[in-house]
Amino acid sequence: MGIDVECDLDIMARPRSNSNDANAPSERRHPNAAVNWHQPVLVNEVIQCLEPVPGTTFVDCTVGTGGHARAILPHLLPVGAGTPGRLIGIDCDATALAQARQRLAEFRPYVEVVHDTFSHLPEILARAGLTQVHGLVADLGMSSLQVDDPARGFSFRHEGPLDMRMDQRLPTTAADLIRTLSEDEVADLLSRLGEERWARRIAGHLVDRRARTPIVTTTHLAQVIAEAVPRRAGSRRLHPATRTFMALRMAVNDELLALQRLLEALPEVLLPGGRAAIITFHSLEDRLVKHAFQRGARDGVFRLLTKKPLRPSAREVAANPRSRSAKLRSVERCS
Ligand SMILES: C[S@@+](CC[C@H](N)C(=O)[O-])C[C@H]1O[C@@H](n2cnc3c(N)ncnc32)[C@H](O)[C@@H]1O
Repeated sequence: MGIDVECDLDIMARPRSNSNDANAPSERRHPNAAVNWHQPVLVNEVIQCLEPVPGTTFVDCTVGTGGHARAILPHLLPVGAGTPGRLIGIDCDATALAQARQRLAEFRPYVEVVHDTFSHLPEILARAGLTQVHGLVADLGMSSLQVDDPARGFSFRHEGPLDMRMDQRLPTTAADLIRTLSEDEVADLLSRLGEERWARRIAGHLVDRRARTPIVTTTHLAQVIAEAVPRRAGSRRLHPATRTFMALRMAVNDELLALQRLLEALPEVLLPGGRAAIITFHSLEDRLVKHAFQRGARDGVFRLLTKKPLRPSAREVAANPRSRSAKLRSVERCS
């Protein structure tokens, strides 16, 4: 199976559109600052799958700058003297959380944000006095906030330090991996997480180059990769460094392991009748979600709400090119 590559890293990505996409929240800019919020993907589809209603409890495992949370929260508000609903928003990126707090301020009594990894979901819920929730959303990958900030080092389009940590408390940066991994380890990482056909060639060239000058910036790494990949082999659409950057980011943040832990926890954290919606941008992640949901359905734990993944409409892709590789899968916990 070919890999879907997040269009965040696609050198041909078009500028973000300002058109009125039906899936986008009504505001995109912070009211008193020149901040462009991350544009959430498949928002209507998430709401249709999760069917949030007043008085229920939801968890947004990747609250980011609060786009999906902001779409869910109005559905949870109490009607009259009814029970208030609640949303727990988790993110491992402190900068994103600061923005989520600001953006969700109007819902303050009903929302709590937590700086942690969703790998710790059962513990996070326990700390909030909960064991199970009615609904869960996870929108994996990076936010625009992260990709567009050169200081975070996620994109080869901007000169910046090779960092790539979503959680600044993590001990290892991408530069650390580039400096310390052996040639075999680099090749393995690129072929496993990036499905990079030139993995061995890139690894060899990288090890050769780093012996001369340390590779510590995004643009330097991109240049080394471009030198390693035969010119005519380049895809018209993708920069030769796209897969290497994606693989490094996934390794730095241990993204597949985090997703596996989330999928393992899902049956215990969803109430009977509770629903989950997971958006992926990478075929390895989509495969993990698909298999976990299918296994759950076979074992009578889940009912599949999406037999095939939901994809963004052509209109959404035109308005937000970064939505291009998004896939949404959803299940309901059986009683
Ligand atoms: C695509 S963005 C989510 C955007 C969000 N849905 C919104 O509407 O603004 C993905 C977010 O997930 C966060 N993230 C990635 N892995 C995580 C993990 N293991 N635990 C918690 N947050 C994580 C990233 O820091 C990023 O903010």
